[in-house]
Amino acid sequence: MRVTLPKFCFVVHPLSLEDVARYEPGAKGKGAPMVRKILEWMPAWTAVHVTGVRTPDGRETEGWFVAAALLPEQMLELPREDVYGRILKAIELGESLGAQVAGLGAFTGVVGDGGVTVAQRAPIPVTTGNSLTISAGVQSLLRGAREMDVDPHEATAAVVGATGSIGAACVRLLAPSVGRVILVARNATRLRKLHEQIAGDLACRSDATTDVSAAVRQAQLVLTATSSTQDLIEPEDLQTGAVVCELSLPHDVSRRVAALRPDVLVTEGGNMLVPGEPRFERVREPGTEFDLNLPPRTALACMSETMVLALEQRFESYTLGRGIDLARVVEMEAMAARCGFTLGGMRAFDAAITQEKIAATRAAARERRSRVPA
Ligand SMILES: NC(=O)c1ccc[n+]([C@@H]2O[C@H](COP(=O)([O-])OP(=O)(O)OC[C@H]3O[C@@H](n4cnc5c(N)ncnc54)[C@H](OP(=O)(O)O)[C@@H]3O)[C@@H](O)[C@H]2O)c1
Repeated sequence: MRVTLPKFCFVVHPLSLEDVARYEPGAKGKGAPMVRKILEWMPAWTAVHVTGVRTPDGRETEGWFVAAALLPEQMLELPREDVYGRILKAIELGESLGAQVAGLGAFTGVVGDGGVTVAQRAPIPVTTGNSLTISAGVQSLLRGAREMDVDPHEATAAVVGATGSIGAACVRLLAPSVGRVILVARNATRLRKLHEQIAGDLACRSDATTDVSAAVRQAQLVLTATSSTQDLIEPEDLQTGAVVCELSLPHDVSRRVAALRPDVLVTEGGNMLVPGEPRFERVREPGTEFDLNLPPRTALACMSETMVLALEQRFESYTLGRGIDLARVVEMEAMAARCGFTLGGMRAFDAAITQEKIAATRAAARERRSRVPA
């Protein structure tokens, strides 16, 4: 008897022109304006077939990555209704293949109201995947602190993007583990309102500022979750031996940090190890793997949340909008663990962070402390 697997789809889009060229080598060397124009015209398509995701107790799911191929800045600049239309077309493709739940990758979950409108109009339930991203991000930051011998209870943590869907929940989840938290965002009114609303309930001291650089200069721990398309974290601002957990896609941490600050531990916070023997096969070229720009068996936390919902047969719009309920984050963390998902290995700037690299980072921090007074 043929068993019907629960199915999901996940909406993907390129984060940069390099991403476009990785998927479509023919785009290499074409000017940015031409690539952008082509992307604007491109209808949604099914890019990847995902198989082999299997829980330790033998449950399986199958899914598709469906592409709404706009760059992050296009998602923010093009008319909102056009962008929603592109995302919905991609979800409809997934639904036609049998998907029972859809995840919104990167900026498809950021644009407009963080998935609320898309979920209202979509033929199947929708999640941004932010619950698992929040959990993975906070765990990654605290893992980084342990590796760098930073006592979080004595530390100041800056959350950049603190008024966002991910950032606001990270502030609340992180607060019991740190000495002080600084909330950072662009819109001063929204930031002040959020801070006034939550400060009294936070389990640590807190401040709020719109000045990213000033906040980072005060912090031993930094978590980024912004919708910025520009670098925000610069080497000149980081404290000696600081730990930075990067959730933003595209990233916020300048590549100059990798070159100029060997004493700082930067780690991508939202990567999960997928249980089973996951395969990400390109639909257009069967037999070839899709390059997620991640190590084998690794997926983003937001993708992983979508897979977990399918595996657990929770066909519901699980995480949407801002103001995420922490109880949901905790429940998702437990469901992901039950399905065999674990935090991915440490990684940054397209490379794994080995134990040797961590030891070298700690040594560089010690050396810099002896040279540069705090
Ligand atoms: N790693 C993963 O698995 C994963 C999963 C999902 C999402 N993500 C990424 O996580 C990021 C955040 O997503 P979200 O859903 O939380 O977005 P969101 O709700 O739109 O929040 C974005 C936050 O960034 C702030 N921000 C934007 N530009 C800024 C700037 N230049 N300086 C300081 N703050 C700035 C916004 O503040 P203002 O409103 O004041 O501008 C807001 O607080 C995105 O990059 C997304 O792609 C990663």
